[in-house]
Amino acid sequence: MSDASNAAVRAASLRTEIEYHNDRYYNDEQEIADAEFDALLRELIQIETEYPELVIDGSPTQRPGGVRQSSFAPAEHLVPMLSLDNAMSKDELVAWGVRAAKLVERDLEFVTEPKMDGLAISLLYRDGMLVRGATRGDGRVGEDVTENVRTIGEVPKQLRGKRIPSLLEIRGEIYMSLTAFETLAAAQRDANKTVVVVNPRNAAAGSLRQKDVSVTASRDLSLFCYQLGIVEGAPTFETHREVLEWMSELGFSVNPHIETHCTIEAVFSECNSLLGRRHLLGYDIDGVVVKVNDLGQRSEMGFTSKAPRWAIAFKFPPEERTTVLRDIHVSIGRTGRATPFAMLEPVFVGGVTVSTATLHNQDEVARKDVRPGDTVVVRRAGDVIPEVVGPVLAKRPAGLVPWAFPKECPVCGVPLAREDGAANSRCLNLSCAARQWSLIVYFASRGAMDIEGLGDERVAQFVDAGLVVDAADIYNLTIDDIAAIPRLGAKSAAALVAAIAGSKQTPLWRVLVALGIKHVGPSAAQAFAKYFRTLDAIFDAPVERLIELDGVGAVIAESLKAWIEIPTNTAFVEKLRAAGVSFDTADDRGYDASVEPTLAGLTFVLTGTLGGQTREAAAAKIEARAGKVTNSVSKKTSYVVAGDAAGSKLAKAELLGVTVLDEAAFDRLIEHGVA
Ligand code: IVH
Repeated sequence: MSDASNAAVRAASLRTEIEYHNDRYYNDEQEIADAEFDALLRELIQIETEYPELVIDGSPTQRPGGVRQSSFAPAEHLVPMLSLDNAMSKDELVAWGVRAAKLVERDLEFVTEPKMDGLAISLLYRDGMLVRGATRGDGRVGEDVTENVRTIGEVPKQLRGKRIPSLLEIRGEIYMSLTAFETLAAAQRDANKTVVVVNPRNAAAGSLRQKDVSVTASRDLSLFCYQLGIVEGAPTFETHREVLEWMSELGFSVNPHIETHCTIEAVFSECNSLLGRRHLLGYDIDGVVVKVNDLGQRSEMGFTSKAPRWAIAFKFPPEERTTVLRDIHVSIGRTGRATPFAMLEPVFVGGVTVSTATLHNQDEVARKDVRPGDTVVVRRAGDVIPEVVGPVLAKRPAGLVPWAFPKECPVCGVPLAREDGAANSRCLNLSCAARQWSLIVYFASRGAMDIEGLGDERVAQFVDAGLVVDAADIYNLTIDDIAAIPRLGAKSAAALVAAIAGSKQTPLWRVLVALGIKHVGPSAAQAFAKYFRTLDAIFDAPVERLIELDGVGAVIAESLKAWIEIPTNTAFVEKLRAAGVSFDTADDRGYDASVEPTLAGLTFVLTGTLGGQTREAAAAKIEARAGKVTNSVSKKTSYVVAGDAAGSKLAKAELLGVTVLDEAAFDRLIEHGVA
């Protein structure tokens, strides 16, 4: 390779590295020292000076802000602010526990704390008065943000209590609660139509490091403290828990979800439990910090160059990652709604690999202004569908043009229509293949007729082969028809035909849901079925009768009536009737129509003694919400609810990595559903 092409390669790799560390820096998650960063930048400048033809527009050397410069005074840490080693799996956690116990040759006691996803802060007090607040920076030198931290309500300006030391440094995490974040994001949206803050951590870092302190003051920041830095004239302590207690005494806020454990198994189970509860906390956490409780043992264990040996961070799978947006596609749903979705470079986020994510609707794409080719933030929190949060503007390649929503249905080519005030365009062509296809998929889906083995791929194969046009056609499928489809053997064909035949006795409310009438979801359908008992009676009832039912409003009733008015719809019902579908099968589970099926698709195992309810009562609550209760734990189990003295099932859940809920978390799940 020539010198020039060598230089080009090196310049490109330097740029990537510099961009990465710039990003870390702005999030106050600095990984390398300022001096190391400067060296990278100097090397790039040197190459670009020697080979001016290599200078490109997007180079960090060409951007005024690219060469970063703190507007805050440097603040040297009296004791370095170290980081933590990570454990990404149970094995790594256990290995750390074994190593730690070996170092002191004794059994250990562990303390678990939620790992706050904010930014670390050092607060310095002389004779009880706050004299300095500093960010972590590179661990040795941070930024002096004293005036900014003074504006935070939870930061004590003056310590209280009787045991006030002459010099005290407290370390903790500044964070923004989810509600504060939502409020801020909404305000920014209203003000300039684009969201400036992408997530609570970014928002916390950005809010704290404002040159104008009145801006920081206007942001709702919070603090949890978890560690001591330098101390002079303080009482002596034997354990971390005692330190935390003293910190609260002095007026610092300490996270209430801190626990002590005697075994690493118990630590792991707490990690799992917090993972299951993370969406109920009201702030983001990205893991659990596990610390040795005994301070004497801690000093025996000491530090590596980067991190203490007496602590480890058990990391949760990230819920937000950046990736490249390859393209934006539009899908047509069963009501004709045109939904834009992102085709992504696959990325591991929220515990799964994601290659598509929703963009919600036409207005959202416009507001977020994401463009194919952009680097975008992708979020998948809990069980919710992955979504594109927004573009990373700093990484937008030059020349990307805004994406335009298609004017025609991508499937049938008929112009898309948009009703006044609606967020979406719709394809109004009733015989559009996309609408038919998704109507059939919906018909067979778990929340409707629940036909095992008839998912979207199968339906697509049947539609493509011309075997079905609408959902009623599935009842005419024969084993031979199905077995003729590539990749479908006689055995699965027979199973599918049996499942389809079995669905003829589906309870009425599910049949009603399966028809796909706009606004008629499970709870309205259950109300109708419970009261009228047959489809004919429901269809014959006047609107005034329908709206008398609990949970049925005018919108639902009118929508049902409008649906019946359309001849193709009634023809479809008659076709189902002729195929043998029953329209008066009673509900098998004695539904309580007032309860939403918030747990549909989830499987629970109950174990141990619950304090506030019998296991039967807990099971009834799950089933009333359409969840399933089984006896044994497997990979398919969604949650294990563990009471006191839970035994082997709890152990198995931990082994398989199934989320474990304590009773309080379970009650919250019952009340709020899956966040
Ligand atoms: S203890 C010697 N406890 O995690 C390091 N850190 O990855 C002592 N963090 O820089 C840190 N929650 O910003 C500790 N409960 C907690 C924490 C916590 C969040 C952050 C902190 C630290 C980073 C290390």
